[in-house]
Amino acid sequence: MKAKTPSDSRTTMTDLVLPSETNPLNNLFGGELLARMDRAASIAARRHSRRVCVTASVNHVAFNRAVPLGSVVTVEATISRAFKSSMEIFIDVWIEDRESGNRTKANEAIYTFVAVDETGRPIEVAPVVPETDLEKERFAAALRRKQLSLVLAGKMKPHEATELKALFD
Ligand SMILES: CC(C)(COP(=O)(O)OP(=O)(O)OC[C@H]1O[C@@H](n2cnc3c(N)ncnc32)[C@H](O)[C@@H]1OP(=O)(O)O)[C@@H](O)C(=O)NCCC(=O)NCCS
Repeated sequence: MKAKTPSDSRTTMTDLVLPSETNPLNNLFGGELLARMDRAASIAARRHSRRVCVTASVNHVAFNRAVPLGSVVTVEATISRAFKSSMEIFIDVWIEDRESGNRTKANEAIYTFVAVDETGRPIEVAPVVPETDLEKERFAAALRRKQLSLVLAGKMKPHEATELKALFD
Protein backbone atom coordinates (compact mmCIF):
# COMPACT_ATOMS: atom_id res chain seq x y z
CA MET A 1 0.00 0.00 0.00
CA LYS A 2 1.38 3.43 -0.96
CA ALA A 3 2.63 5.48 2.01
CA LYS A 4 1.17 8.92 2.68
CA THR A 5 2.45 11.98 4.52
CA PRO A 6 0.65 13.59 7.48
CA SER A 7 -0.12 16.65 5.34
CA ASP A 8 -2.01 14.45 2.85
CA SER A 9 -4.78 13.96 5.44
CA ARG A 10 -4.40 16.97 7.78
CA THR A 11 -7.84 18.31 8.72
CA THR A 12 -8.59 21.80 10.00
CA MET A 13 -11.99 22.81 11.37
CA THR A 14 -12.75 26.36 12.55
CA ASP A 15 -15.92 27.29 14.43
CA LEU A 16 -17.31 29.72 17.04
CA VAL A 17 -18.17 28.95 20.67
CA LEU A 18 -21.92 29.57 21.06
CA PRO A 19 -23.86 30.04 24.36
CA SER A 20 -25.42 26.54 24.15
CA GLU A 21 -21.90 25.02 24.12
CA THR A 22 -20.61 26.59 27.34
CA ASN A 23 -20.45 25.65 31.04
CA PRO A 24 -21.68 27.90 33.93
CA LEU A 25 -18.39 29.86 33.73
CA ASN A 26 -19.15 30.75 30.10
CA ASN A 27 -16.28 28.63 28.80
CA LEU A 28 -16.52 25.89 26.19
CA PHE A 29 -17.96 22.67 27.70
CA GLY A 30 -15.30 19.91 27.70
CA GLY A 31 -17.57 17.36 26.04
CA GLU A 32 -18.24 19.75 23.17
CA LEU A 33 -14.50 20.14 22.57
CA LEU A 34 -14.06 16.34 22.72
CA ALA A 35 -16.74 15.98 20.03
CA ARG A 36 -15.14 18.63 17.80
CA MET A 37 -11.76 16.91 18.17
CA ASP A 38 -13.32 13.50 17.45
CA ARG A 39 -14.92 14.83 14.26
CA ALA A 40 -11.72 16.40 12.92
CA ALA A 41 -9.65 13.32 13.84
CA SER A 42 -12.18 11.02 12.23
CA ILE A 43 -11.94 12.96 8.96
CA ALA A 44 -8.11 12.84 9.05
CA ALA A 45 -8.23 9.06 9.63
CA ARG A 46 -10.73 8.64 6.80
CA ARG A 47 -8.65 10.77 4.43
CA HIS A 48 -5.56 8.71 5.23
CA SER A 49 -7.24 5.31 4.90
CA ARG A 50 -10.14 6.07 2.54
CA ARG A 51 -12.15 3.70 4.77
CA VAL A 52 -14.81 3.92 7.45
CA CYS A 53 -12.93 4.74 10.68
CA VAL A 54 -14.10 4.29 14.27
CA THR A 55 -12.70 5.82 17.46
CA ALA A 56 -10.91 3.01 19.31
CA SER A 57 -9.45 5.07 22.14
CA VAL A 58 -8.95 8.58 23.48
CA ASN A 59 -5.36 8.25 24.63
CA HIS A 60 -4.71 11.68 26.02
CA VAL A 61 -6.54 14.99 26.50
CA ALA A 62 -5.11 18.11 28.12
CA PHE A 63 -7.54 20.97 28.75
CA ASN A 64 -4.76 23.48 29.36
CA ARG A 65 -6.70 26.69 28.74
CA ALA A 66 -10.36 27.58 29.07
CA VAL A 67 -11.99 28.61 25.80
CA PRO A 68 -14.34 31.60 26.41
CA LEU A 69 -17.77 32.12 24.86
CA GLY A 70 -17.49 33.75 21.44
CA SER A 71 -13.98 32.41 20.74
CA VAL A 72 -12.97 31.37 17.27
CA VAL A 73 -11.61 27.85 17.78
CA THR A 74 -9.51 25.93 15.28
CA VAL A 75 -9.12 22.18 15.67
CA GLU A 76 -6.30 20.66 13.62
CA ALA A 77 -6.03 16.88 13.32
CA THR A 78 -2.88 15.24 11.98
CA ILE A 79 -2.03 11.56 11.67
CA SER A 80 1.24 10.75 13.41
CA ARG A 81 1.56 7.04 12.62
CA ALA A 82 -0.35 4.14 11.15
CA PHE A 83 0.15 0.60 12.38
CA LYS A 84 -1.80 -2.27 10.78
CA SER A 85 -5.41 -1.11 10.98
CA SER A 86 -5.01 1.56 13.66
CA MET A 87 -3.96 5.18 13.29
CA GLU A 88 -2.78 7.62 15.94
CA ILE A 89 -4.16 11.12 15.40
CA PHE A 90 -2.85 14.23 17.15
CA ILE A 91 -5.26 17.10 17.66
CA ASP A 92 -4.04 20.63 18.34
CA VAL A 93 -6.59 23.24 19.40
CA TRP A 94 -6.00 26.95 18.80
CA ILE A 95 -7.89 30.10 19.84
CA GLU A 96 -7.73 33.16 17.62
CA ASP A 97 -7.37 36.61 19.18
CA ARG A 98 -10.19 38.80 17.87
CA GLU A 99 -8.12 41.95 17.35
CA SER A 100 -4.68 40.68 16.28
CA GLY A 101 -5.77 37.41 14.67
CA ASN A 102 -2.84 35.69 16.44
CA ARG A 103 -3.45 32.05 17.36
CA THR A 104 -2.72 30.63 20.85
CA LYS A 105 -2.53 26.90 21.55
CA ALA A 106 -5.30 26.06 24.02
CA ASN A 107 -5.52 22.28 24.19
CA GLU A 108 -4.27 19.07 22.64
CA ALA A 109 -5.32 15.46 22.43
CA ILE A 110 -4.35 12.10 20.98
CA TYR A 111 -6.97 9.71 19.62
CA THR A 112 -6.67 6.23 18.09
CA PHE A 113 -8.86 5.32 15.12
CA VAL A 114 -9.28 1.95 13.45
CA ALA A 115 -10.19 1.51 9.78
CA VAL A 116 -12.90 -1.11 9.33
CA ASP A 117 -14.62 -2.89 6.44
CA GLU A 118 -18.37 -2.98 5.77
CA THR A 119 -18.84 -5.55 8.54
CA GLY A 120 -16.88 -3.53 11.10
CA ARG A 121 -13.76 -5.71 10.95
CA PRO A 122 -10.35 -3.99 11.16
CA ILE A 123 -8.67 -3.56 7.78
CA GLU A 124 -5.11 -2.62 6.81
CA VAL A 125 -4.17 1.01 6.13
CA ALA A 126 -1.29 2.74 4.33
CA PRO A 127 1.88 3.59 6.28
CA VAL A 128 2.76 7.17 7.27
CA VAL A 129 5.95 8.90 6.18
CA PRO A 130 6.66 11.82 8.53
CA GLU A 131 8.31 14.89 6.98
CA THR A 132 8.84 17.67 9.54
CA ASP A 133 10.81 17.39 12.80
CA LEU A 134 7.59 17.48 14.83
CA GLU A 135 6.01 14.76 12.66
CA LYS A 136 9.13 12.60 13.05
CA GLU A 137 9.10 13.09 16.85
CA ARG A 138 5.43 12.14 17.11
CA PHE A 139 5.93 9.16 14.77
CA ALA A 140 8.84 7.83 16.86
CA ALA A 141 6.92 7.95 20.16
CA ALA A 142 3.64 6.57 18.78
CA LEU A 143 4.48 2.91 19.39
CA ARG A 144 5.09 3.60 23.10
CA ARG A 145 1.73 5.37 23.35
CA LYS A 146 -0.03 2.51 21.54
CA GLN A 147 1.48 0.00 23.97
CA LEU A 148 0.45 2.14 26.98
CA SER A 149 -3.10 2.40 25.65
CA LEU A 150 -3.30 -1.36 25.06
CA VAL A 151 -1.92 -2.12 28.53
CA LEU A 152 -4.46 0.25 30.16
CA ALA A 153 -7.26 -1.34 28.11
CA GLY A 154 -6.16 -4.80 29.30
CA LYS A 155 -5.34 -5.81 25.71
CA MET A 156 -1.58 -6.18 26.22
CA LYS A 157 0.41 -7.61 29.12
CA PRO A 158 2.83 -5.07 30.66
CA HIS A 159 5.84 -7.33 30.05
CA GLU A 160 5.01 -7.34 26.31
CA ALA A 161 5.19 -3.53 26.12
CA THR A 162 8.92 -3.50 25.38
CA GLU A 163 9.21 -0.01 23.83
CA LEU A 164 7.18 1.46 26.72
CA LYS A 165 9.34 -0.33 29.32
CA ALA A 166 12.51 0.96 27.65
CA LEU A 167 11.40 4.50 28.56
CA PHE A 168 11.87 3.70 32.28
CA ASP A 169 15.15 1.74 31.98
C1 LIG B 1 -11.99 -0.52 17.61
C2 LIG B 1 -12.42 -1.92 17.17
C3 LIG B 1 -12.72 -1.92 15.67
C4 LIG B 1 -11.23 -2.87 17.45
O1 LIG B 1 -11.66 -4.13 17.11
P1 LIG B 1 -10.95 -5.45 17.72
O2 LIG B 1 -11.79 -6.61 17.38
O3 LIG B 1 -10.57 -5.18 19.13
O4 LIG B 1 -9.71 -5.58 16.80
P2 LIG B 1 -8.18 -5.74 17.15
O5 LIG B 1 -7.93 -6.26 18.53
O6 LIG B 1 -7.60 -6.48 15.99
O7 LIG B 1 -7.68 -4.24 17.10
C5 LIG B 1 -7.60 -3.54 15.89
C6 LIG B 1 -6.55 -2.48 16.04
O8 LIG B 1 -6.96 -1.54 17.03
C7 LIG B 1 -5.94 -1.40 18.01
N1 LIG B 1 -6.58 -1.12 19.28
C8 LIG B 1 -7.63 -1.75 19.81
N2 LIG B 1 -7.92 -1.21 21.01
C9 LIG B 1 -7.02 -0.20 21.21
C10 LIG B 1 -6.78 0.71 22.26
N3 LIG B 1 -7.54 0.74 23.37
N4 LIG B 1 -5.76 1.58 22.13
C11 LIG B 1 -4.97 1.59 21.04
N5 LIG B 1 -5.15 0.73 20.00
C12 LIG B 1 -6.16 -0.15 20.10
C13 LIG B 1 -5.22 -2.76 17.99
O9 LIG B 1 -3.93 -2.65 18.54
C14 LIG B 1 -5.19 -3.03 16.51
O10 LIG B 1 -4.18 -2.21 15.90
P3 LIG B 1 -3.34 -2.68 14.62
O11 LIG B 1 -4.27 -3.42 13.68
O12 LIG B 1 -2.88 -1.40 14.01
O13 LIG B 1 -2.21 -3.51 15.12
C15 LIG B 1 -13.66 -2.43 17.96
O14 LIG B 1 -13.31 -2.57 19.33
C16 LIG B 1 -14.85 -1.52 17.83
O15 LIG B 1 -15.55 -1.55 16.83
N6 LIG B 1 -15.11 -0.70 18.87
C17 LIG B 1 -16.20 0.26 18.83
C18 LIG B 1 -15.79 1.53 18.08
C19 LIG B 1 -16.82 2.61 18.20
O16 LIG B 1 -17.99 2.37 18.08
N7 LIG B 1 -16.33 3.82 18.46
C20 LIG B 1 -17.19 4.95 18.68
C21 LIG B 1 -17.34 5.16 20.13
S1 LIG B 1 -18.99 5.17 20.62
